[in-house]
Parts: sequence; structure tokens; C-alpha cells
Amino acid sequence: MSDHRQLALKYAGEHKKEYLEKMKDIISIPSVSTDPNRVDDIKKAAEWLKAELGDLGMQRVEIFPTPRHPIVYAEDLTAGSDKPTVLIYGHYDVQPEDPVNEWNSDPFTPTEKGENLYARGSTDMKGQIIATFSAIEAIRQTGDLPVNIKFLIEGEEEIGGSYLETFIKDNQDLLECDFFLNPDTGMQSPDLPTITYALRGIAYFELRVQGPKQDMHSGSFGGAIHNPAQVMTDLLSGLHDKKGRVTLPGFYDRVLPLDDDEREEISKLPVGDDFFLEQGGVKALFGEEGFTSVERTGARPTLEINGLYSGFIDEGQKTVLPAYAMAKVSCRLVADQDPVEVYDQFKSYLMNNAPDTVTWELDQLSKDFPSQSDRKSKWIDAYVQAAEKVWGVRPLFMREGGSVPVVVHIQQSLGVDSVNIGFGLPSDNMHGPNEKIHLPTFYKGIEALVHFFFNL
Ligand code: BES
Ligand code: MN
Repeated sequence: MSDHRQLALKYAGEHKKEYLEKMKDIISIPSVSTDPNRVDDIKKAAEWLKAELGDLGMQRVEIFPTPRHPIVYAEDLTAGSDKPTVLIYGHYDVQPEDPVNEWNSDPFTPTEKGENLYARGSTDMKGQIIATFSAIEAIRQTGDLPVNIKFLIEGEEEIGGSYLETFIKDNQDLLECDFFLNPDTGMQSPDLPTITYALRGIAYFELRVQGPKQDMHSGSFGGAIHNPAQVMTDLLSGLHDKKGRVTLPGFYDRVLPLDDDEREEISKLPVGDDFFLEQGGVKALFGEEGFTSVERTGARPTLEINGLYSGFIDEGQKTVLPAYAMAKVSCRLVADQDPVEVYDQFKSYLMNNAPDTVTWELDQLSKDFPSQSDRKSKWIDAYVQAAEKVWGVRPLFMREGGSVPVVVHIQQSLGVDSVNIGFGLPSDNMHGPNEKIHLPTFYKGIEALVHFFFNL
């Protein structure tokens, strides 16, 4: 091992406390991107990052405004043009903290309990951002950077339809790099590092069904006027068949089949049905016939109802025939599905199946393509070596059911591939109450990144 690498690892080991404090600092800012009341917090988080990147010694740090939330860019190209350039991604926005009552501690007051730090945004993904900052700081404090570094940190990953796509298209020279490091995925368990080579795309919809012109007495009018909640649930229940398949005509036409090699590789992941039963605390599983749970979530497309609203939902009873019903529905997509084509499929389904007793409207929110990355690139290899050093086992490759839309935009605009890693765990309660980050894994992640940057 080079002296510098060793010194950097030692430095990182001795500064865990500072790294933890930094993480707590940024996590305390409630930068919920979907909440219009929190635009100031979004700004504050961007400013915090700018200051921090300045302290890290980046040569250039800049905030680029967008029509919505600002993008933070930074670069340090002191390693020189004979060294590779890595573009590191991050998003400083977080999901809303609801349901607030189900948190055991305040969502924006980072709270340590055992080996975990609890707070919204801890694992998704401010902790991951701080891991990259910390690794770079440790390297920096003990010598020169072995690679050129650029940072691209956005504030709208969690809301879809991000302005980052346009920013990337318009700033190809600025963002030029040899590869993209996306630390917004995770590992399978604290002892098993994983590398994500496929992320699902997403097509997100809001469907509104309008019935009578206003809420009505369900006794006087129910039976004669079609209830929009009933229409909505009929329509939604028609979207899956008994075999757990999505019924939209054409939905599976572009889905690339899983070949035997890949099935074999995926089956090595220690995530059987018991894993899903335990994570969900459910009695039994559900999904597309003919596929294992890990295939269903990683390699097959799905359709989920994310939210459903109609009529009276407060305490007690109210006999009302609601005026309208609303549902949020999203499809996770795999290669080579197209999110806009899925919109057309959903629309035709509604045209063919919605009764003429109601009117309806369908809006598309997210429309992001799935992505796949090369499992054999030298960049991936550098991470395989790094992870093996730290965890003592070879990382496994996995497909991720979630989405990180930027990866495709980078592949398309800059023509470079992505290394998708991260130190979040499936038990971190991402997007749910009591989100947390596992601190020993976070510290190991910093070490792995130090190795990674030297391996490059
Ligand atoms: N970090 C997640 C993606 C993810 C989820 C990676 C689970 C690994 C495991 C990311 O922040 C995310 O939640 N993305 C959204 C994107 C959507 C709003 C367009 C998602 O997947 O729902
Ligand atoms: Mn997320």
C-alpha cells in the first residue's frame, strides 16, 4: 500500500467524530423538495454544501439556480489531465417526514441509538454525500488528490421531472468526465457489499375521477349516481390480473427477458422470500408468477398504487357520495420500456374501461427511463477491489428496484457509465418513518471510497 493511501485511511479512522458531526449538521436542515414551505431550507442546504466544498479545498464551487431547486457544482482538477476525472453525484433534497407520529424521535433532530443515526435524509442520501466528502478530506489532508474530482449535487431527485436533465444537456463541457460515481444506492447487508448495475425507470401518474358536481347525500343520490370512488377502485383493480401481471396492453412488449446467466447471478444474493417477509412484516408475499421476489423487484416491471383519496376519511362516519376520487399510481420500468409509452397505454386503458358516468383526467409526473451499467468496466473493477479490501468479501452485483433518474441522463448526454454504490441498508427505512443510517457501515464506506480513489 502506498504511504499516502495508508495515511489517508489512518486520518479517516481518527476523524470519525468530525464526519458524524458534519452529517448531523446537514441532516438537521429539513430540505424537503416537494414542500413549498421549505424552499428556504432547500436554499440553506445548497449553501451549506457550497461552504463545505469550499472548506474541502475545491478549486471552484458554484450554485446554479434552476426554475425550481438549485444545483451545486464543484471541481478540483489539480490531479492533472493525465489522471481520470470522476463526476460524483448527490442529491441534498429529502422525502417528506410523514407520517410524523410514527417517528420515535424528531425527523430532523439526528438521534443516535446503538449503531444507528436516525433522521430523515440520513441514508437517502446526505450520509452518502458526507461519506464522499470525508474520503476526499482524508486524502486531501494527507497529500494530493490522485484523481480529478467534480461534484454535481441536485435538490430535486425525490420529486421527479428534475431540471437536472436540462442542466446536464446544456453543460456537457463543464461536466466532462471519465465516469460517474453515483453513491445513491446501497448494500445488501453490513457484511455484504453490493454494486448496482441496473436501476428501474419510473412512470408516475395522477388520476382524477370526477363524479357529481359536489359531494352529495349518499342516501338520497347513491344508487342513481355512479360513485367515483367505486369507479376508481374498479379501474385500479383491473390493472393486475390473478397472476400478478400488469394488464395494460403492450406493457411487457419491450421488457428484455432475463437470461439464465443473469438469473443465476441474481440468485446468489442472500435475499430470499424470508427477507421480504421480514422487512415488510407481512403474512405472505405477492407478485408476478414465475419470478422470485428479487427478480420481481429488480428485473421485472411493476405497477403500484402510491396513494388513494376519496370522500370522508376523518374519525366517525359521514354518509357522503363523494364528488371525486384521486389516485397516485406509478410503474417501475426495466429496459427497454419507455415511460411515455406506458402513459399512452394507461390512457388507452382508461378510454376503453372508464364508464361514461364520470369524467377523468390523467397527468404524468415522472417519466424516467431505466438504466443499465457495464459490470466489467475498469471503474467497477476499482470499486470491487476497494470493497473487497474493506469487507473481506467480493461484492455481489445486483439490480435495484428503486430509481435514480440522473444515471440515464448522464449516460445519454455525456456518454459515460456509472458506478452505482452506497452504504445504505435495506433496513434503513428509506422514505418511511424512522429512517436511519448504520454508522459502522458509513465509516467503512469512507474507507472503501479512500481505496477506490487510489485504485483509480
Ligand atoms: N436512493 C433512492 C433510490 C434507491 C432506492 C436506491 C432504494 C437504492 C435502494 C432515490 O433517492 C429515490 O428514492 N429515488 C426515487 C426516484 C423517483 C422520485 C423519481 C425513487 O426510486 O422512488
Ligand atoms: Mn430517495
